[in-house]
Amino acid sequence: MERLRIGLIGCGTVGGQVYKILKRKRRNLYWKTGILFEVVKVCDKAKKRRKELKIPSSLFTTDPHQVTNDPNIDIIVELIGGTEEAFEYLCEAIKKGKSVVTANKALLSEKGRTIFDLCEENRVYIGFEASVAGSIPIIKTIRESFIGNNFSKLLGILNGTTNFILSKMTHLDIDFNQALKIAKEKGYAEAEPYFDISGLDSAHKLSILTKLAFNKSVSWRNIYTEGIDRIEKMDVEFARELGYRVKLLGIAKKDRNILELRVHPVLLPATHLLSLVEDVYNAIYIEGDLIGNSLLYGKGAGGKPAASAVISDLVEIGMKLKMKNYGNMKFREDSTLELLPFDEIKTKYYFRFTAVDKPGVLAKIAKVLGEKNISIASVIQKKESPQKAVPIVMLTHPSKEKNVSEALKIIDKLDIIKKPTIKIRVEEEDGNI
Ligand SMILES: NC(=O)c1ccc[n+]([C@@H]2O[C@H](COP(=O)([O-])OP(=O)(O)OC[C@H]3O[C@@H](n4cnc5c(N)ncnc54)[C@H](OP(=O)(O)O)[C@@H]3O)[C@@H](O)[C@H]2O)c1
Repeated sequence: MERLRIGLIGCGTVGGQVYKILKRKRRNLYWKTGILFEVVKVCDKAKKRRKELKIPSSLFTTDPHQVTNDPNIDIIVELIGGTEEAFEYLCEAIKKGKSVVTANKALLSEKGRTIFDLCEENRVYIGFEASVAGSIPIIKTIRESFIGNNFSKLLGILNGTTNFILSKMTHLDIDFNQALKIAKEKGYAEAEPYFDISGLDSAHKLSILTKLAFNKSVSWRNIYTEGIDRIEKMDVEFARELGYRVKLLGIAKKDRNILELRVHPVLLPATHLLSLVEDVYNAIYIEGDLIGNSLLYGKGAGGKPAASAVISDLVEIGMKLKMKNYGNMKFREDSTLELLPFDEIKTKYYFRFTAVDKPGVLAKIAKVLGEKNISIASVIQKKESPQKAVPIVMLTHPSKEKNVSEALKIIDKLDIIKKPTIKIRVEEEDGNI
């Protein structure tokens, strides 16, 4: 009988589910794979987990080194989160010749290259399917199912919390803080949801997908990232009126040897496939030279969907170890690919100016835009508001980010402008239904 002896570090939301599933589905997994997946050590610094999960005390420890150094363990599953300690334990395990599974997107987007190189050096496997989009098998799809493709574009709704908030703002006509409150009440947002709201969680995931789809290691620090906290109810309403939805997207586009990466809210046509993705769901729209375009959709977070991905990594690695033939997919680096500076991106824009309601205002704004080569596609001007300032909403033709920033700096200093202008980029190439 083949056995895979597993050491689990961290048994909170995801790790707790992994432990339970491996216990409950042990026979079923054995029946399907011929391998007995056996948890032989469990570590968590929170002692209460032992009781909560009914873990035998002989298996439980609060010291991760007892897991990484145990010669009887074949594979380590790291589910503690954070970067420093997780990095230490993973490296320790890899150097001891153990394969590893992690869901840690923050760590992989920070130190992925070092970890992948260390795995190759030590001829061990690494699984990280749960690090991006939970139940969607995007890692396997890019690395295996779509391996014959050259990818040109990837657009992803990579964070369930922000998608939930934007969906609620769109459909319940509520503002950001009200939607965030509902997300917290439902357990979809943490008490401190900074990583989600700021877009950083999406940037971590985009960094991992970029490595796989475009063979380029780019730290999340080098990805332009903007969150959703500045999106106002009014902008969501205008977007609807104009036939768009507001979504937080991770965007990667490749044109010859230039790679464009960014995470920010966008106006997406209401008919775009990604506009139909609501609530906590994630989706990834990908274009390849052989597949054309494809959309993957599913639950992005939560203990069970993430644990499902961890189990799939364990089974895959278990099967490879059973074959006793080390053949890890290489993590190649495309040194010819250059990152486009963010200032150089070209896209359409939505502007909302808050201006005094008097003749000549539009002409003054249009003059500055014209001087910066930004051409206007359409304008909506609303009636006078009680504060005697009116929103003027404008859509532009494709313009350069640098020109737009310069123009808005000038416009916001004009005496006719009463509040900083809101700018949302518009994404409307392919992907419409
Ligand atoms: N939750 C999700 O939906 C989800 C989805 C996909 C990926 N992930 C990723 O999965 C990983 C785990 O997330 P989670 O939501 O399961 O976190 P969690 O609920 O906070 O669980 C982490 C557990 O590890 C323990 N821990 C922390 N540091 C430790 C250390 N140095 N040694 C031993 N135990 C330690 C924690 O104890 P304390 O409680 O005492 O800190 C906690 O019990 C993260 O990398 C996360 O990004 C999560």
